[in-house]
Amino acid sequence: MNSLHAPITIVRPQIIEFGVGVAGRLGKWASDQGFRRTLVVSDAFNASRVELLGLPGEVTIFPEVRPEPDTHNLERLLDVANAVNADLVVGFGGGSAMDLAKLAAVLAGSSQSLREVVGPNKVASRRRVGLAQVPTTSGTGSEAGIRALVTDPETQAKLAVESIHMLADIAVIDPGLTFTVPAATTAATGVDAMAHCVEAFTNRKAHPLIDLYAIEGVRLVGRFLARAVADGSDAEARAGLSLASLYGGFCLGPVNTAGGHALAYPLGTRWHVAHGAANALIFPHVLAFNTPAAPEKTEAVVSALGLAAAPSQAAVFEQAHGFCHSLGIEMRLSGLGVPRDDLPTMAGDAFAIRRLLDNNPRDLSQADILSIYEAAY
Ligand SMILES: NC(=O)c1ccc[n+]([C@@H]2O[C@H](COP(=O)([O-])OP(=O)(O)OC[C@H]3O[C@@H](n4cnc5c(N)ncnc54)[C@H](O)[C@@H]3O)[C@@H](O)[C@H]2O)c1
Ligand SMILES: [Fe+2]
Repeated sequence: MNSLHAPITIVRPQIIEFGVGVAGRLGKWASDQGFRRTLVVSDAFNASRVELLGLPGEVTIFPEVRPEPDTHNLERLLDVANAVNADLVVGFGGGSAMDLAKLAAVLAGSSQSLREVVGPNKVASRRRVGLAQVPTTSGTGSEAGIRALVTDPETQAKLAVESIHMLADIAVIDPGLTFTVPAATTAATGVDAMAHCVEAFTNRKAHPLIDLYAIEGVRLVGRFLARAVADGSDAEARAGLSLASLYGGFCLGPVNTAGGHALAYPLGTRWHVAHGAANALIFPHVLAFNTPAAPEKTEAVVSALGLAAAPSQAAVFEQAHGFCHSLGIEMRLSGLGVPRDDLPTMAGDAFAIRRLLDNNPRDLSQADILSIYEAAY
Protein backbone atom coordinates (compact mmCIF):
# COMPACT_ATOMS: atom_id res chain seq x y z
CA MET A 1 0.00 0.00 0.00
CA ASN A 2 1.19 3.48 -0.83
CA SER A 3 4.49 2.94 -2.54
CA LEU A 4 5.67 5.98 -4.45
CA HIS A 5 7.37 3.87 -7.07
CA ALA A 6 4.28 1.79 -7.97
CA PRO A 7 3.22 2.43 -11.59
CA ILE A 8 -0.07 4.28 -12.04
CA THR A 9 -2.02 5.73 -14.99
CA ILE A 10 -4.07 8.90 -14.61
CA VAL A 11 -6.65 10.08 -17.14
CA ARG A 12 -8.83 13.18 -17.06
CA PRO A 13 -11.43 14.78 -19.31
CA GLN A 14 -9.52 17.17 -21.54
CA ILE A 15 -11.48 20.17 -20.28
CA ILE A 16 -13.00 20.57 -16.83
CA GLU A 17 -15.16 23.66 -16.32
CA PHE A 18 -15.96 24.25 -12.66
CA GLY A 19 -17.96 26.87 -10.78
CA VAL A 20 -21.42 28.22 -10.11
CA GLY A 21 -22.96 29.40 -13.37
CA VAL A 22 -20.68 27.56 -15.83
CA ALA A 23 -23.42 25.25 -17.23
CA GLY A 24 -23.93 27.45 -20.31
CA ARG A 25 -20.27 27.08 -21.29
CA LEU A 26 -21.14 23.67 -22.68
CA GLY A 27 -23.11 25.28 -25.49
CA LYS A 28 -20.22 27.58 -26.40
CA TRP A 29 -17.82 24.61 -26.47
CA ALA A 30 -20.19 22.49 -28.55
CA SER A 31 -20.60 25.37 -30.99
CA ASP A 32 -16.84 25.93 -31.27
CA GLN A 33 -16.36 22.21 -31.91
CA GLY A 34 -18.92 22.33 -34.71
CA PHE A 35 -21.37 19.84 -33.19
CA ARG A 36 -24.79 20.03 -34.84
CA ARG A 37 -26.84 17.15 -33.52
CA THR A 38 -26.86 16.49 -29.79
CA LEU A 39 -28.45 13.74 -27.73
CA VAL A 40 -28.95 14.71 -24.08
CA VAL A 41 -29.24 11.71 -21.77
CA SER A 42 -31.17 12.76 -18.69
CA ASP A 43 -33.66 11.95 -15.96
CA ALA A 44 -37.14 13.48 -15.88
CA PHE A 45 -36.12 16.32 -13.56
CA ASN A 46 -33.06 17.51 -15.44
CA ALA A 47 -34.65 16.93 -18.84
CA SER A 48 -36.94 19.86 -18.05
CA ARG A 49 -34.06 22.33 -17.88
CA VAL A 50 -31.74 21.34 -20.73
CA GLU A 51 -31.91 24.93 -22.02
CA LEU A 52 -29.46 25.87 -19.23
CA LEU A 53 -26.75 24.18 -21.28
CA GLY A 54 -27.24 26.52 -24.26
CA LEU A 55 -26.69 23.72 -26.77
CA PRO A 56 -26.58 24.68 -30.46
CA GLY A 57 -28.26 22.90 -33.39
CA GLU A 58 -30.71 20.05 -33.17
CA VAL A 59 -31.14 18.75 -29.61
CA THR A 60 -32.87 15.47 -28.78
CA ILE A 61 -33.61 14.78 -25.14
CA PHE A 62 -33.87 11.28 -23.70
CA PRO A 63 -35.69 12.02 -20.41
CA GLU A 64 -36.18 8.46 -19.15
CA VAL A 65 -33.05 7.62 -17.17
CA ARG A 66 -34.05 5.94 -13.92
CA PRO A 67 -32.04 5.81 -10.71
CA GLU A 68 -29.70 2.77 -10.76
CA PRO A 69 -30.57 2.11 -14.41
CA ASP A 70 -30.93 -1.43 -15.69
CA THR A 71 -30.24 -2.91 -19.10
CA HIS A 72 -33.84 -2.30 -20.26
CA ASN A 73 -33.37 1.41 -19.59
CA LEU A 74 -30.14 1.30 -21.63
CA GLU A 75 -31.84 -0.55 -24.50
CA ARG A 76 -34.53 2.14 -24.73
CA LEU A 77 -31.81 4.76 -24.85
CA LEU A 78 -29.87 2.90 -27.55
CA ASP A 79 -33.00 2.71 -29.71
CA VAL A 80 -33.27 6.49 -29.52
CA ALA A 81 -29.53 7.03 -29.98
CA ASN A 82 -29.43 4.82 -33.07
CA ALA A 83 -32.35 6.73 -34.58
CA VAL A 84 -30.94 10.18 -33.79
CA ASN A 85 -27.40 9.55 -35.00
CA ALA A 86 -26.05 12.44 -32.91
CA ASP A 87 -22.52 13.79 -33.17
CA LEU A 88 -22.46 14.79 -29.49
CA VAL A 89 -23.79 12.87 -26.48
CA VAL A 90 -24.33 14.78 -23.24
CA GLY A 91 -24.92 13.13 -19.86
CA PHE A 92 -27.03 15.58 -17.83
CA GLY A 93 -27.98 14.31 -14.39
CA GLY A 94 -26.54 12.19 -11.62
CA GLY A 95 -24.39 9.11 -12.04
CA SER A 96 -27.28 7.22 -13.58
CA ALA A 97 -27.62 9.63 -16.54
CA MET A 98 -23.87 10.09 -16.97
CA ASP A 99 -23.22 6.33 -16.98
CA LEU A 100 -25.90 5.70 -19.60
CA ALA A 101 -24.52 8.58 -21.70
CA LYS A 102 -21.09 6.92 -21.67
CA LEU A 103 -22.60 3.65 -22.88
CA ALA A 104 -24.69 5.36 -25.55
CA ALA A 105 -21.57 7.16 -26.79
CA VAL A 106 -19.71 3.90 -27.42
CA LEU A 107 -22.57 1.49 -28.23
CA ALA A 108 -24.84 3.50 -30.55
CA GLY A 109 -24.03 2.58 -34.13
CA SER A 110 -21.52 -0.02 -32.92
CA SER A 111 -21.50 -3.72 -33.78
CA GLN A 112 -20.69 -4.53 -30.16
CA SER A 113 -23.44 -5.28 -27.64
CA LEU A 114 -23.42 -4.37 -23.96
CA ARG A 115 -22.51 -7.96 -23.05
CA GLU A 116 -19.44 -7.77 -25.24
CA VAL A 117 -18.06 -4.68 -23.54
CA VAL A 118 -18.59 -5.59 -19.87
CA GLY A 119 -15.25 -5.61 -18.04
CA PRO A 120 -12.09 -3.59 -18.54
CA ASN A 121 -10.98 -2.39 -22.00
CA LYS A 122 -13.47 -4.37 -24.07
CA VAL A 123 -14.74 -1.48 -26.21
CA ALA A 124 -13.10 -2.26 -29.54
CA SER A 125 -12.83 1.08 -31.25
CA ARG A 126 -12.72 4.81 -30.61
CA ARG A 127 -16.07 6.46 -30.29
CA ARG A 128 -17.18 8.50 -33.27
CA VAL A 129 -19.14 11.07 -31.25
CA GLY A 130 -18.21 13.77 -28.76
CA LEU A 131 -19.01 13.13 -25.10
CA ALA A 132 -19.77 15.78 -22.49
CA GLN A 133 -20.79 15.22 -18.88
CA VAL A 134 -22.74 17.62 -16.69
CA PRO A 135 -23.30 16.29 -13.15
CA THR A 136 -26.32 17.50 -11.22
CA THR A 137 -25.68 15.54 -8.02
CA SER A 138 -22.49 15.58 -5.94
CA GLY A 139 -21.72 11.96 -5.47
CA THR A 140 -20.49 9.66 -8.17
CA GLY A 141 -17.73 11.67 -9.85
CA SER A 142 -18.75 9.76 -12.98
CA GLU A 143 -18.06 12.93 -15.02
CA ALA A 144 -14.32 12.36 -14.57
CA GLY A 145 -14.10 8.63 -15.08
CA ILE A 146 -14.03 5.76 -17.52
CA ARG A 147 -16.59 3.45 -15.87
CA ALA A 148 -20.29 2.92 -16.33
CA LEU A 149 -22.54 0.75 -14.21
CA VAL A 150 -25.82 -0.78 -15.28
CA THR A 151 -27.89 -3.39 -13.47
CA ASP A 152 -28.60 -6.79 -15.01
CA PRO A 153 -32.28 -7.39 -14.06
CA GLU A 154 -31.86 -11.16 -14.24
CA THR A 155 -28.88 -11.60 -11.94
CA GLN A 156 -29.43 -8.31 -10.04
CA ALA A 157 -25.70 -7.69 -10.43
CA LYS A 158 -24.12 -4.43 -11.56
CA LEU A 159 -22.40 -4.81 -14.89
CA ALA A 160 -19.29 -2.63 -14.95
CA VAL A 161 -17.95 -1.39 -18.26
CA GLU A 162 -14.58 0.29 -18.18
CA SER A 163 -13.05 1.93 -21.21
CA ILE A 164 -10.89 4.92 -22.04
CA HIS A 165 -13.32 5.55 -24.90
CA MET A 166 -15.95 6.54 -22.32
CA LEU A 167 -13.83 9.37 -20.96
CA ALA A 168 -15.59 12.70 -21.55
CA ASP A 169 -14.09 15.35 -23.80
CA ILE A 170 -15.44 17.93 -21.39
CA ALA A 171 -16.93 17.87 -17.90
CA VAL A 172 -18.97 20.91 -16.93
CA ILE A 173 -19.36 20.97 -13.16
CA ASP A 174 -21.76 23.69 -12.07
CA PRO A 175 -22.56 23.41 -8.36
CA GLY A 176 -25.56 25.69 -9.04
CA LEU A 177 -27.22 22.71 -10.74
CA THR A 178 -27.19 20.82 -7.43
CA PHE A 179 -29.13 23.39 -5.37
CA THR A 180 -32.36 21.51 -6.10
CA VAL A 181 -31.14 18.13 -4.86
CA PRO A 182 -33.39 17.19 -1.89
CA ALA A 183 -31.76 16.96 1.55
CA ALA A 184 -31.91 13.15 1.76
CA THR A 185 -30.31 12.71 -1.68
CA THR A 186 -27.72 15.36 -0.82
CA ALA A 187 -26.77 13.41 2.30
CA ALA A 188 -26.64 10.04 0.54
CA THR A 189 -24.74 11.23 -2.55
CA GLY A 190 -22.31 13.22 -0.36
CA VAL A 191 -21.47 10.10 1.62
CA ASP A 192 -21.02 8.23 -1.69
CA ALA A 193 -18.39 10.81 -2.75
CA MET A 194 -16.72 10.46 0.63
CA ALA A 195 -16.82 6.66 0.39
CA HIS A 196 -15.03 6.76 -2.99
CA CYS A 197 -12.28 8.81 -1.35
CA VAL A 198 -12.05 6.72 1.83
CA GLU A 199 -12.08 3.38 0.02
CA ALA A 200 -9.35 4.55 -2.37
CA PHE A 201 -7.32 6.01 0.50
CA THR A 202 -7.35 2.81 2.57
CA ASN A 203 -7.11 0.59 -0.52
CA ARG A 204 -4.58 -2.16 -1.17
CA LYS A 205 -3.80 -0.29 -4.39
CA ALA A 206 -3.66 3.15 -2.72
CA HIS A 207 -1.14 5.50 -4.32
CA PRO A 208 0.30 8.83 -3.11
CA LEU A 209 -0.76 10.49 -6.36
CA ILE A 210 -4.39 9.69 -5.55
CA ASP A 211 -4.19 9.98 -1.76
CA LEU A 212 -3.91 13.72 -2.15
CA TYR A 213 -7.35 13.94 -3.76
CA ALA A 214 -8.78 11.24 -1.53
CA ILE A 215 -8.04 12.87 1.80
CA GLU A 216 -9.00 16.33 0.54
CA GLY A 217 -12.31 14.92 -0.71
CA VAL A 218 -13.00 13.51 2.76
CA ARG A 219 -12.11 16.86 4.32
CA LEU A 220 -14.50 18.72 1.97
CA VAL A 221 -17.35 16.36 2.86
CA GLY A 222 -16.57 16.73 6.56
CA ARG A 223 -16.66 20.48 6.21
CA PHE A 224 -19.61 20.99 3.88
CA LEU A 225 -22.04 18.08 3.79
CA ALA A 226 -24.04 18.97 6.90
CA ARG A 227 -24.28 22.58 5.69
CA ALA A 228 -25.62 21.57 2.27
CA VAL A 229 -28.13 19.18 3.86
CA ALA A 230 -29.36 22.00 6.13
CA ASP A 231 -29.48 24.63 3.38
CA GLY A 232 -29.53 23.40 -0.22
CA SER A 233 -28.80 26.85 -1.63
CA ASP A 234 -25.56 27.32 0.34
CA ALA A 235 -23.35 27.95 -2.70
CA GLU A 236 -20.04 27.46 -0.92
CA ALA A 237 -21.15 24.16 0.62
CA ARG A 238 -22.56 22.94 -2.72
CA ALA A 239 -19.31 23.87 -4.49
CA GLY A 240 -17.31 22.05 -1.81
CA LEU A 241 -19.37 18.92 -2.41
CA SER A 242 -19.09 19.17 -6.20
CA LEU A 243 -15.33 19.30 -5.76
CA ALA A 244 -15.37 16.36 -3.33
CA SER A 245 -17.40 14.39 -5.86
CA LEU A 246 -14.91 15.21 -8.64
CA TYR A 247 -12.01 14.17 -6.38
CA GLY A 248 -13.86 10.96 -5.62
CA GLY A 249 -14.10 10.41 -9.38
CA PHE A 250 -10.34 10.92 -9.65
CA CYS A 251 -9.95 8.17 -7.02
CA LEU A 252 -12.13 5.69 -8.90
CA GLY A 253 -10.12 5.41 -12.11
CA PRO A 254 -6.69 4.19 -11.03
CA VAL A 255 -7.49 2.86 -7.54
CA ASN A 256 -11.26 2.29 -7.22
CA THR A 257 -13.40 1.38 -4.25
CA ALA A 258 -13.19 -1.69 -2.03
CA GLY A 259 -15.18 -3.48 0.68
CA GLY A 260 -17.64 -0.65 1.39
CA HIS A 261 -19.00 -0.54 -2.15
CA ALA A 262 -18.96 -4.32 -2.49
CA LEU A 263 -21.16 -4.67 0.59
CA ALA A 264 -23.39 -1.79 -0.47
CA TYR A 265 -24.16 -3.13 -3.95
CA PRO A 266 -26.58 -5.94 -2.95
CA LEU A 267 -28.72 -3.38 -1.09
CA GLY A 268 -29.16 -1.51 -4.34
CA THR A 269 -29.49 -4.40 -6.74
CA ARG A 270 -31.71 -6.63 -4.54
CA TRP A 271 -33.64 -4.03 -2.51
CA HIS A 272 -33.40 -0.86 -4.58
CA VAL A 273 -31.75 1.16 -1.86
CA ALA A 274 -30.23 4.29 -3.46
CA HIS A 275 -26.52 3.87 -4.10
CA GLY A 276 -25.44 6.62 -1.67
CA ALA A 277 -27.84 5.53 1.07
CA ALA A 278 -26.51 1.97 0.81
CA ASN A 279 -22.93 3.18 1.04
CA ALA A 280 -23.68 5.34 4.05
CA LEU A 281 -25.27 2.47 5.94
CA ILE A 282 -22.27 0.22 5.29
CA PHE A 283 -19.57 2.88 5.72
CA PRO A 284 -19.02 2.83 9.53
CA HIS A 285 -18.98 -0.96 9.62
CA VAL A 286 -16.31 -1.40 6.98
CA LEU A 287 -14.23 1.56 8.20
CA ALA A 288 -14.13 -0.01 11.67
CA PHE A 289 -13.50 -3.52 10.29
CA ASN A 290 -10.55 -2.24 8.25
CA THR A 291 -9.00 -0.23 11.08
CA PRO A 292 -6.46 -2.89 12.19
CA ALA A 293 -5.17 -3.16 8.60
CA ALA A 294 -4.91 0.61 8.06
CA PRO A 295 -4.71 2.29 11.47
CA GLU A 296 -2.96 5.51 10.44
CA LYS A 297 -5.09 6.10 7.40
CA THR A 298 -8.27 5.41 9.38
CA GLU A 299 -7.14 7.98 11.92
CA ALA A 300 -6.54 10.47 9.10
CA VAL A 301 -10.07 9.84 7.75
CA VAL A 302 -11.69 10.36 11.15
CA SER A 303 -9.74 13.58 11.60
CA ALA A 304 -10.50 14.81 8.03
CA LEU A 305 -14.19 14.34 8.73
CA GLY A 306 -13.75 16.71 11.66
CA LEU A 307 -14.55 14.00 14.21
CA ALA A 308 -12.86 13.48 17.57
CA ALA A 309 -9.95 11.03 17.66
CA ALA A 310 -11.10 7.41 17.82
CA PRO A 311 -8.60 5.29 19.75
CA SER A 312 -10.36 1.93 19.21
CA GLN A 313 -12.26 0.06 16.50
CA ALA A 314 -15.45 0.58 18.49
CA ALA A 315 -14.78 4.32 18.67
CA VAL A 316 -14.14 4.47 14.91
CA PHE A 317 -17.51 2.82 14.39
CA GLU A 318 -19.29 5.19 16.78
CA GLN A 319 -17.78 8.31 15.22
CA ALA A 320 -18.46 7.27 11.63
CA HIS A 321 -21.95 6.05 12.46
CA GLY A 322 -22.70 9.30 14.29
CA PHE A 323 -21.53 11.31 11.28
CA CYS A 324 -23.94 9.54 8.88
CA HIS A 325 -26.79 9.35 11.37
CA SER A 326 -26.60 13.07 12.11
CA LEU A 327 -27.23 13.71 8.40
CA GLY A 328 -30.61 12.02 8.74
CA ILE A 329 -29.55 8.83 6.94
CA GLU A 330 -31.32 5.57 7.87
CA MET A 331 -28.57 3.43 9.35
CA ARG A 332 -30.48 0.16 9.93
CA LEU A 333 -31.08 -2.43 7.24
CA SER A 334 -34.40 -3.29 8.87
CA GLY A 335 -35.44 0.34 8.44
CA LEU A 336 -34.89 0.05 4.68
CA GLY A 337 -37.30 -2.84 4.21
CA VAL A 338 -34.61 -5.49 3.74
CA PRO A 339 -35.94 -8.83 5.00
CA ARG A 340 -33.67 -10.54 7.52
CA ASP A 341 -33.73 -13.88 5.72
CA ASP A 342 -32.14 -12.29 2.66
CA LEU A 343 -28.91 -11.42 4.50
CA PRO A 344 -27.11 -14.70 3.62
CA THR A 345 -27.95 -14.27 -0.09
CA MET A 346 -26.77 -10.66 0.05
CA ALA A 347 -23.53 -11.80 1.71
CA GLY A 348 -23.04 -14.32 -1.10
CA ASP A 349 -23.62 -11.63 -3.73
CA ALA A 350 -21.22 -9.20 -2.05
CA PHE A 351 -18.56 -11.87 -1.60
CA ALA A 352 -18.67 -12.52 -5.36
CA ILE A 353 -17.66 -8.93 -6.19
CA ARG A 354 -13.97 -9.79 -6.35
CA ARG A 355 -13.04 -6.73 -8.44
CA LEU A 356 -13.72 -4.62 -5.32
CA LEU A 357 -13.18 -7.02 -2.40
CA ASP A 358 -9.68 -7.79 -3.61
CA ASN A 359 -8.86 -4.09 -3.08
CA ASN A 360 -9.91 -4.13 0.57
CA PRO A 361 -7.02 -3.66 3.02
CA ARG A 362 -8.32 -6.51 5.20
CA ASP A 363 -9.73 -9.77 3.84
CA LEU A 364 -13.50 -9.95 4.19
CA SER A 365 -14.79 -13.53 4.32
CA GLN A 366 -18.40 -14.33 3.48
CA ALA A 367 -18.94 -14.89 7.23
CA ASP A 368 -17.46 -11.44 8.01
CA ILE A 369 -19.82 -9.88 5.49
CA LEU A 370 -22.81 -11.68 6.97
CA SER A 371 -21.87 -10.49 10.47
CA ILE A 372 -21.65 -6.92 9.22
CA TYR A 373 -25.14 -7.21 7.67
CA GLU A 374 -26.43 -8.74 10.91
CA ALA A 375 -24.88 -5.93 12.96
CA ALA A 376 -26.38 -3.36 10.58
CA TYR A 377 -29.83 -4.94 10.79
N1 LIG B 1 -19.42 5.67 -13.11
C1 LIG B 1 -19.01 5.68 -11.89
O1 LIG B 1 -17.82 5.78 -11.67
C2 LIG B 1 -19.99 5.60 -10.77
C3 LIG B 1 -19.56 5.81 -9.47
C4 LIG B 1 -20.51 5.72 -8.44
C5 LIG B 1 -21.83 5.43 -8.73
N2 LIG B 1 -22.22 5.21 -10.01
C6 LIG B 1 -23.61 4.91 -10.36
O2 LIG B 1 -24.34 6.14 -10.37
C7 LIG B 1 -25.71 5.86 -10.05
C8 LIG B 1 -26.16 6.76 -8.92
O3 LIG B 1 -26.01 8.11 -9.27
P1 LIG B 1 -26.48 9.30 -8.30
O4 LIG B 1 -26.21 8.91 -6.91
O5 LIG B 1 -25.89 10.54 -8.82
O6 LIG B 1 -28.05 9.31 -8.44
P2 LIG B 1 -29.04 9.33 -9.71
O7 LIG B 1 -28.36 9.79 -10.93
O8 LIG B 1 -29.69 8.00 -9.77
O9 LIG B 1 -30.08 10.44 -9.25
C9 LIG B 1 -30.80 10.26 -8.06
C10 LIG B 1 -32.12 11.00 -8.12
O10 LIG B 1 -31.89 12.40 -8.04
C11 LIG B 1 -32.57 13.08 -9.08
N3 LIG B 1 -31.76 14.28 -9.39
C12 LIG B 1 -30.58 14.33 -10.04
N4 LIG B 1 -30.11 15.58 -10.05
C13 LIG B 1 -31.03 16.35 -9.41
C14 LIG B 1 -31.12 17.74 -9.10
N5 LIG B 1 -30.12 18.57 -9.42
N6 LIG B 1 -32.19 18.17 -8.41
C15 LIG B 1 -33.17 17.32 -8.04
N7 LIG B 1 -33.15 16.00 -8.30
C16 LIG B 1 -32.08 15.52 -8.98
C17 LIG B 1 -32.66 12.07 -10.19
O11 LIG B 1 -33.75 12.35 -11.03
C18 LIG B 1 -32.87 10.77 -9.42
O12 LIG B 1 -34.22 10.58 -9.12
C19 LIG B 1 -25.78 4.39 -9.71
O13 LIG B 1 -26.27 3.64 -10.80
C20 LIG B 1 -24.34 4.03 -9.39
O14 LIG B 1 -24.04 2.67 -9.58
C21 LIG B 1 -21.32 5.32 -11.02
FE1 LIG C 1 -20.28 5.02 -5.35
